[in-house]
Amino acid sequence: MAQGRYTIELLDPAKHRREEFDCGVPVLSDYLKRRANQEMKAFAAACYVIVPDDDPGRIAGYYTLSATTIELTRLPDTLRKKLPRYDSLGAILVGRLARDLAFAAERIGEKLLLSALLRSYRESQQIGAVAVVVDAKDDPAAGFYQRFGFLPLEGSRFYLPMKEVPKWNPSTGGD
Ligand SMILES: CC(C)(COP(=O)(O)OP(=O)(O)OC[C@H]1O[C@@H](n2cnc3c(N)ncnc32)[C@H](O)[C@@H]1OP(=O)(O)O)[C@@H](O)C(=O)NCCC(=O)NCCS
Repeated sequence: MAQGRYTIELLDPAKHRREEFDCGVPVLSDYLKRRANQEMKAFAAACYVIVPDDDPGRIAGYYTLSATTIELTRLPDTLRKKLPRYDSLGAILVGRLARDLAFAAERIGEKLLLSALLRSYRESQQIGAVAVVVDAKDDPAAGFYQRFGFLPLEGSRFYLPMKEVPKWNPSTGGD
């Protein structure tokens, strides 16, 4: 079946129907309905939604980005040796990422993650960030991130070195 066309843009409560969103994980659906806009107003997180072009108020999925730090002792020697010697360095956190159950066949998760990676890469050229960090809420989520090259960091956190992003997203201009 052909996939539809989608746009990814900042959450706009006046345009996007948050109440319809259901990803099957209540805490992630509720975050979009009740907390995402507040966190945007507080500059704590930016929330991006993916909407079908034929129904631009419907949210097919979302992700959040915020600034974080990564402790260098958590990284393997091979990567740490290539980085400046600070205790910690800046990184970008994809705190939440979820796809609505009704859009299961549309590869929304991939579209969201590749968009988050591209946006993180561009931001890292303005304000340094050595990695993209994700919080995987359970084993399937961890499996999803590992599919895209993420490596274990600590607990439920995984990371992808920023240098690796161009491999996943050709529009970063990498090899
Ligand atoms: C995880 C989630 C975002 C994946 O979205 P999706 O739309 O099903 O993903 P896609 O169809 O775009 O899949 C892209 C690739 O990831 C793989 N993938 C998807 N879910 C996976 C999983 N749980 N484990 C391993 N690989 C997975 C797909 O097989 C596909 O691989 P392929 O290119 O080899 O075919 C979605 O299942 C979801 O919203 N789950 C509930 C919320 C959640 O767990 N969020 C994660 C962060 S907390």
